[in-house]
Amino acid sequence: MQTALVTGANRGLGKETARQLAEKGFKVILTSRSEAGRAVAEELRAAGYEVDFHQLDVADGQSIAELTDYLAENYEYLDVLINNAGIHHDTFQNTLNADFSIVEEALRVNTIGPWRVSNALMPLLKNSSAGRIVNVSSSSGSFVDSWPGTPAYSVSKCALNMLTLKMAADLKGTNVKINSVCPGWVRTAMGGENALRDVSEGAASIIWAALIPDDGPSGGFFRDGQSMSW
Ligand SMILES: NC(=O)c1ccc[n+]([C@@H]2O[C@H](COP(=O)([O-])OP(=O)(O)OC[C@H]3O[C@@H](n4cnc5c(N)ncnc54)[C@H](OP(=O)(O)O)[C@@H]3O)[C@@H](O)[C@H]2O)c1
Repeated sequence: MQTALVTGANRGLGKETARQLAEKGFKVILTSRSEAGRAVAEELRAAGYEVDFHQLDVADGQSIAELTDYLAENYEYLDVLINNAGIHHDTFQNTLNADFSIVEEALRVNTIGPWRVSNALMPLLKNSSAGRIVNVSSSSGSFVDSWPGTPAYSVSKCALNMLTLKMAADLKGTNVKINSVCPGWVRTAMGGENALRDVSEGAASIIWAALIPDDGPSGGFFRDGQSMSW
């Protein structure tokens, strides 16, 4: 059975991505920084899906280590890692008046978190016949498509895209591929109620990159399977 781990899966895009992966036959390891994800995992199990739960705060090295130990004891391989957890769409500030506690937390969660989690789980991903990492990014991190404002968020997603590029180069010749995906503007707590897409459409964009075949791309930036400008 194929296995997939999703970060920040207690709500929003992470929850829906976990559901869609389970629907496609994956055993999903649903993670969240609070206990809220446990109830979501139970809800999905009640719907007939194979779902495990483990706590994971992607900004906390001890939490990542505990998850890694749990996985090493209970799983031989991991096929898909969705680095979905994200924070601080900071529309309320600009570069000149930025609160650096917010800037630093955005970088810890949105950039360094996916980096540390990917490295920690890499041995399991390499044990898969076709490991796939999806970094859930945003057009706000694109030099071409970004907009004024949201400085902490945009810088953290831009850096996440560079991580994707660098890690793909370092994974060349292995069975593990990594890509960045923008889900579009999605109606979640972060996206707000005026967003253009519902979670199922946004999550489908993420799932595309989780399922790319062996001759598919690595080190790219995509929305709905279409290449985006960095
Ligand atoms: N919605 C959009 O329009 C949009 C557009 C482009 C990209 N994205 C990206 O899509 C991803 C999901 O966003 P969303 O719209 O679903 O937002 P959301 O509803 O605000 O969900 C964010 C998730 O990240 C979790 N999280 C925050 N900090 C964490 C940490 N330190 N460790 C683990 N989990 C943490 C939250 O957990 P708690 O419940 O504990 O806070 C929550 O589960 C993010 O990476 C976001 O940047 C969203």
